[in-house]
Amino acid sequence: MRNGAKIATSVAALFCSTALLVQAQRGGLTASDPGVRSDTVAVGQPLPTLSASQMQFFQDGLGRFIEVDSVSGTIGSEPGKGLGPGFNSNSCSSCHAQPATGGTSPSASVFPNIGPNPQLLAATDAGATNSIPPFITSDGPVREMRFPFLVMGGRLTSIPDGSVHDLFTIAGRSDAAGCAMSQPNYQLMLQLNNIILRIPTPVFGAGLIENIPDAAILANMNSKSGLKQQLGISGHPNVSGNDGTITRFGWKAQNKTLEVFAGEAYNVEMGVTNELFANERANPPSSCLYNSTPEDATNFDQSGAQIPSDTVQFATFMRFLAPPVPSTHGIRGNPPATSIQNGRQLFSQLHCDLCHTPTLQTGPSNLTPGLSNQTAALYSDLLVHHMGSGLADQVSQGAAGPDEFRTAPLWGVGQRIFFLHDGRATPANGGLLTAIQAHAGRGSEANGVISLFNNLSEQQKQDLLNFLRSL
Ligand code: HEC
Ligand code: HEC
Repeated sequence: MRNGAKIATSVAALFCSTALLVQAQRGGLTASDPGVRSDTVAVGQPLPTLSASQMQFFQDGLGRFIEVDSVSGTIGSEPGKGLGPGFNSNSCSSCHAQPATGGTSPSASVFPNIGPNPQLLAATDAGATNSIPPFITSDGPVREMRFPFLVMGGRLTSIPDGSVHDLFTIAGRSDAAGCAMSQPNYQLMLQLNNIILRIPTPVFGAGLIENIPDAAILANMNSKSGLKQQLGISGHPNVSGNDGTITRFGWKAQNKTLEVFAGEAYNVEMGVTNELFANERANPPSSCLYNSTPEDATNFDQSGAQIPSDTVQFATFMRFLAPPVPSTHGIRGNPPATSIQNGRQLFSQLHCDLCHTPTLQTGPSNLTPGLSNQTAALYSDLLVHHMGSGLADQVSQGAAGPDEFRTAPLWGVGQRIFFLHDGRATPANGGLLTAIQAHAGRGSEANGVISLFNNLSEQQKQDLLNFLRSL
């Protein structure tokens, strides 16, 4: 992590502990993140409106989403084919796991206790000889790394890189005999402060996000312009270089559709070439190439839901996943309904909702009524905003610059463990409260809103946190 980020976090921590001290001296309440809501997990279900055949495709897609890949598909428990040569993990569901398949980083110690970081197992699976970087820990979030700038001859340049460098290689695996390929030099990149991390975003309700017309995003962007200006909030869409429409998936809203993201993730996270991204990445040594390309393709000899490629079926599964279901049960401390109601009001009085737009309308869907003309309670404007020096990752993607990020959708945060693009806000360091404080930084559009937040009483902050845990 870069120095800027460290400094911003420790300043926030300092501020926080001073506030804590004052409260403790008064003997009053100190606001804290209640933690993961512990009622039943209601996500991971299909939309209730699917037809019988759509349901078959959904189930088939789910099966492929949880399938573990090996290099040639010949290891019994790892029937998928095409892993590597470089990879970050070996199944979609290993990273998209919590609180149910389709979600984000799991944890072994937090409800629903899905398990340790799966990257630890994937790194040494089947005899692979990878070392584990210090930022991949058993109870920490799943992470991928990018190097903001190119390093040449051991020296940092100012030439942008910004791409994902896979943490692991298949070298040493029993199904990769003869492969010689080393991991990227993450030690050097750590020394040079030239590494940024990203955690997985959940995909519940993603089909709704996909079906919000550009016009709805733009109309919302242009609303309340006076108030936004007063608070220093602007925000703009990221756009596709291909057709000029608004892109909306990923931390920088860098990707257009679920199918594009699925194809990219298959190749980038797992090393599986496919019909959308047909070539192996990062110029790997030929000693590590075992399969013809694309490794994932249309299954011409199959029938029904088995015909489409994995990539298409991943997208079908994600598109048909129902959105998160808010609940007021299972929040630690059993806050009364009035607290959550008050928190909801504060969320709009502080103007969090100028970025985290509570709802957007989807357009008419050609697929299923559950995606058609729906009110998607995503709590995002799907725009990218300058978040300042503390959060900046120095990576540009499309129209999203070095400190710009998509307003993170807040639906489902009630059952989330790790927050912000690099997972810096964790249960150990304040969780949601830390995530909110981290919005402030030199050049952040959220500074005005966060100073309003800082002026709240501890009870009001608690109400806001309780409200967030009900989402
Ligand atoms: C090693 C962990 C890992 C694996 C394996 C993985 N992902 Fe992800 N996924 C991520 C990360 C990290 C992001 C955020 C990336 C970003 O925005 O830069 C992400 C984001 C996404 C998103 C964007 C959702 C949104 O609204 O922003 C989709 C869709 C997605 N992944 C689908 C998949 C699919 C399909 C697979 C399997 C082919 C997969 N992922 C495998 C880590 C992973
Ligand atoms: C200027 C726009 C803006 C405002 C105002 C804003 N946010 Fe955010 N919020 C963002 C962006 C962008 C991110 C993602 C930042 C990142 O990951 O680096 C985010 C992330 C979050 C997250 C973490 C979500 C996740 O998936 O990790 C929470 C929680 C959150 N915001 C709550 C709030 C609350 C509460 C307020 C009001 C006090 C608020 N935000 C005000 C833009 C905004």
